[in-house]
Amino acid sequence: MDKFNIAIDGPAGAGKSTVARLVAKELGFIYIDTGAMYRAVTWKALQSGITAEDREQLVEIASKLRIELLPGEHGQQVLLDGSDVTGLIRSPEVNQNVSAVSAIPEIRTLLVAKQQEMAEAEGVVMDGRDIGTHVLPDAKVKIFLTASVKERAERRYLEMKARNEDVSLEKLEREIAERDRMDEQREVSPLVRARDAVLLDTTGIAIPQVVERILELTKSAE
Ligand code: C5P
Repeated sequence: MDKFNIAIDGPAGAGKSTVARLVAKELGFIYIDTGAMYRAVTWKALQSGITAEDREQLVEIASKLRIELLPGEHGQQVLLDGSDVTGLIRSPEVNQNVSAVSAIPEIRTLLVAKQQEMAEAEGVVMDGRDIGTHVLPDAKVKIFLTASVKERAERRYLEMKARNEDVSLEKLEREIAERDRMDEQREVSPLVRARDAVLLDTTGIAIPQVVERILELTKSAE
């Protein structure tokens, strides 16, 4: 099979990373979680005591960071300057700050260039918010994955409970809705469905069915 790129965009908690990882596995493609890159920059900024308002310093830090995404057992392993930050970048602090960091145009320019480089050889399944619209506008298959806020919050709640994390469903629902609002309203590359993306609303639909549907779309695009 010839290699090509697949773009999967959508709001927080729509199941993009699970679905994208399974689709990539099925096709023998490389999975790239671009949210992890914005999270890694945010984590580093928080560690250094820098907020999204300290724009110059933030861009300076981001331009020097070495972010590596490696295939791991349960998803993707994220290395920052050689250190494993896979778990650290999913903290509540990062969740609360990542949308402000990712709204900075210079940060996006830096990370988008890296993402495009990773996809140059084709054969990637990339998930994010602006993949079909900006990062890989020529991707052969484009999916916009969504689900109701309530269901997305419930999925996150169950995931976190399974990891014994202390969390309230109401708080998660508020956080997800706030992150959606910021991602949709930012000036640069807002979260929006590409005109040629297929909309898949996964409310009430199990992951294997969503994966199957994307694989079908992939076959018909060949
Ligand atoms: O996908 P995930 O929820 O991990 O993404 C974290 C945040 O990173 C998003 O809420 C968004 O602000 C930002 N992001 C982005 N563009 C992408 C991927 C993620 O702005 N391509």
